[in-house]
Amino acid sequence: MTTVLVTGGCGFIGSNFIRLLLAEEPATRVLNLDALTYAGNLENLADIQTSDRLSFTRGDIGDRALVESLLAETPVDAVVNFAAESHVDRSILDSDPFVRTNVVGTQVLLDACRRRGVDRFVQVSTDEVYGSLGETGLFTEETPLSPNSPYSASKAGGDLLVRAYCHTFDFPGIITRCSNNYGPYQFPEKIIPLFIANALADKSLPVYGQGRNVRDWIHVSDHCRGILAALRRGRPGEIYNFGGRCEIANIDLTRELLRLLGKPESLIRHVADRPGHDMRYAIDCTKAERELSWAPRVAFAEGLSQTIDWYREHADWVARVQSGEYSKYYERQYGTRLKS
Ligand code: NAD
Ligand code: DAU
Repeated sequence: MTTVLVTGGCGFIGSNFIRLLLAEEPATRVLNLDALTYAGNLENLADIQTSDRLSFTRGDIGDRALVESLLAETPVDAVVNFAAESHVDRSILDSDPFVRTNVVGTQVLLDACRRRGVDRFVQVSTDEVYGSLGETGLFTEETPLSPNSPYSASKAGGDLLVRAYCHTFDFPGIITRCSNNYGPYQFPEKIIPLFIANALADKSLPVYGQGRNVRDWIHVSDHCRGILAALRRGRPGEIYNFGGRCEIANIDLTRELLRLLGKPESLIRHVADRPGHDMRYAIDCTKAERELSWAPRVAFAEGLSQTIDWYREHADWVARVQSGEYSKYYERQYGTRLKS
């Protein structure tokens, strides 16, 4: 048996990753450490909760005493760090928790893992650390870091700590940087699940500015396969980019969602642009393809239809995660009530 500590395993990508890891590796045990912030939900793991290879600890990756005692109690072979504050708009409203978790939390984990001699540490990061592209070009692993939002700056801070620990201490860290994910269990503050949920409720879809900004979409299952490949076949000290080779402008994505949902384009509402809004992201993932024998598999049309079906079938999940804290955030962000 090998043991993998997954942090942030109750969030969108972390929960999809734990499901994949347990299915792919029958001799792997998973410890899930998650603070259960507004974005973390044990319900995301309900179907595998009873597995005797999965255990859960509620806690903060920035809590040094807790992290050290967890690693002392159960020796772990590898760590995959998903735990983060992940939403750009929230980082513009308040960057404090972003620095605490994404920078200081990463440092606490690195220290504890170094002391315990963990064999692998995968830092799950984002293409947003590279900044914004013009109409052409792709982000490669050599693109200089140029983060523009408090979120991406905090992720770049975490990445730089991993890099420095690899360089200074010969620490076995690997950094992965992925483009925009979509799929089941994504919190409905991100554009795809937000617009699906709003359209299903015949509410307006708030498109920032003219909607010309471009994102490179990848299905969460493809991202998770990439992280697993980096964990098992990646070289320590290396960075691997993952992307879906699927660039779409927000307004075209919005129109496509409405078409698939059979809803009118009159639901589109152009609202004030996001401050400092990055124009375009697009990933060159040839290094991951070459070194990790990985490639994205899910075609966007198929993945998007499946995602719409998932949200239709999980209306109760959406209603539960939208209650409480989220309704206050929605009102502050969009100046309109979530339930009206
Ligand atoms: P998410 O917001 O859905 O989940 C984050 C999880 O981390 C939640 O379960 C939350 O409870 C937990 N968490 C937050 N702070 C914590 C703390 N201090 N200690 C322990 N747990 C804590 O995020 P996501 O979309 O699943 O993203 C996961 C990771 O992948 C993040 O590091 C993010 O930067 C990165 N990433 C996301 C995307 C994307 O498109 N969503 C793309 C590339 C990279
Ligand atoms: O690129 C990877 C990143 O993708 C991850 O690191 C982040 O964790 C993840 O949140 C995501 O960041 P984005 O800011 O690109 O995702 P979001 O879904 O918030 O926005 C996608 C695009 O849609 C962006 O151009 C802003 C726009 N948008 C978003 C929202 C929430 C709107 O037009 N209206 C909205 O209400």
